[in-house]
Order: sequence, then C-alpha cells, then structure tokens
Amino acid sequence: MHPLVNIGVKAARKAGALMINSLNREAPLEVFSKGPHDYVTQVDRDVEACIIDVIHKAYPHHAILGEESGHSGDNDICWIIDPIDGTTNAIHGFPHYAVSIAVRMGNDVSHAIIYDPLRDELFTASKGAGAYLNQRRIRVPNQVRLSDALIGTGFPFKDMRHLDAYLRIFKELCPAAAGIRRAGAATLDLAYVAAGRLDGFFEFGLQPWDFAAGNLLVSEAGGFVTDFKGGNDFSHGNILAGSGRVHKELLVLIQQQLRS
Ligand code: 2AM
Ligand code: CA
Repeated sequence: MHPLVNIGVKAARKAGALMINSLNREAPLEVFSKGPHDYVTQVDRDVEACIIDVIHKAYPHHAILGEESGHSGDNDICWIIDPIDGTTNAIHGFPHYAVSIAVRMGNDVSHAIIYDPLRDELFTASKGAGAYLNQRRIRVPNQVRLSDALIGTGFPFKDMRHLDAYLRIFKELCPAAAGIRRAGAATLDLAYVAAGRLDGFFEFGLQPWDFAAGNLLVSEAGGFVTDFKGGNDFSHGNILAGSGRVHKELLVLIQQQLRS
C-alpha cells in the first residue's frame, strides 16, 4: 500500500471509531444548520479534526480541503476530506454513512480511501493500481444493460434549481432501469458502483469532498465517470458514473432530458 494510503486508512479507521462511539451515545446529538436542509453536528467537526490530526502528524505541510473546516495550507498535495458523508442519515439513526478521504496531487486525485464503519468496509484506490474492498480487488461488470441495472442517485435536497430537469430524467429512468436507490451518501454510492453493487449513479451539484475519492474508485475499478456532457469538467459537481454500457445509456438519457 502507498504510504499516503496507509496514513489515510489510519485516519479513516480512527475517524470511524470516533463516529460510532459519538453517534451511539444516549444523549441527543447537537445539530446545527449550515443552511436550508444542510446540517452539521459536533461529531462531524470532531471527526474532521481527528482526521486532520492524523494527516498532519505524518505530513505537517500538506494542504487540507475539509467539508467542515474549508481550505488550509499551501502545498501541491491536498487531502480532500468528508468526515461524515451521510450526516442527515446519521442524525436520524439511518445506518448508512462513511468517511471519505482523497489525496489530490496537483490537479489529479491520486489516492482514495472510503471507510464505512458500520459494515467495517474499507474501499481504497490509487491511480494506476486498481480499486480494492478490504484489500480484495474490485471490478465493475461492464456488460450490464440499463434495463437490468440498479441505479443509485441523489434527489435534490438543498438547491432546487435542477429539480425540474431531475424529475424529467427520473421519469424516463423509472421504466428504463431495473431499480433506483437513494441511500443518502454519495461517496458510498460511488464506492458501490466500483464494487458492482450499483451499475450506475448520477447526481447534480455535488461538492468535491462528495466525489473526489469515489470517482477514482470507479475509474480504477474499470468504470466510467464523467460530467453530464460526457467530459471531465466537475466544477458543477454533476457526476455520472457507471459501468461501460450503463454509463453510455444513462448519458444519452440525461442529455436528451437536459436539452428538452
Ligand atoms: P453530507 O452528509 O456529507 O452532507 C449528496 O447527496 C450529498 O449531500 C450526500 O452525500 C450528503 O453529504 C448530502 N445529503 C444527502 N441528502 C441530504 C439531505 N436530505 N439533506 C442534507 N444533506 C444531504
Ligand atoms: Ca459530510
């Protein structure tokens, strides 16, 4: 394992333990609002601080982009952190959330670590070296058709600008796919595409910490990740991931609806 991944795994496991301990307390969680339908708890902040502490003990000068603490440091190597992806799930006791850590070197994400503490599932990938679940290689099955595919997605919850376009896509997709799931943690949706548990995934307006690690996992598992135009401009956070055929069919469907 690459030394950067080793440190990322150490941070993710420590963060996972802290998360489980803190979320399992009897006392009610203190929930703060970052905006409409956008919540953060003290646990998110503590978990992010714990991850940064592990990283900075090993690499004091590396930069950080964290969902809760923002951007800090000036270095070509930047750790992109979502301490709890699926905070709304965690607040409700819905057992589906994870830690997401990516290492960006220059403009490229080179390493990815996603850890689901509830299932003790560790997803890792390094550029050019494949994707792994608990150290076993994972590969996207590339022959599945959209009609047989299970698709993950994120419903709009905060920014409603894309709601109409989303609903047009949804209306076409319902009869076209075998099933659609909204589990509430984008990083796990992408990890599940990499592991072949989902055949595709799409969502509007994700943030870098939601997709940085997951995108690398999908491509290292042999899947495809693009924006909604089929390119790689992720500045709007519109993410389409999937196995070969499913990605292609979803791209056509989404583009048709975005034009209409
Ligand atoms: P988060 O828990 O790190 O904020 C994309 O759907 C992302 O938005 C999810 O990975 C999750 O990231 C957040 N999210 C999903 N559903 C949400 C909701 N209903 N309210 C707030 N945040 C949500
Ligand atoms: Ca989060």
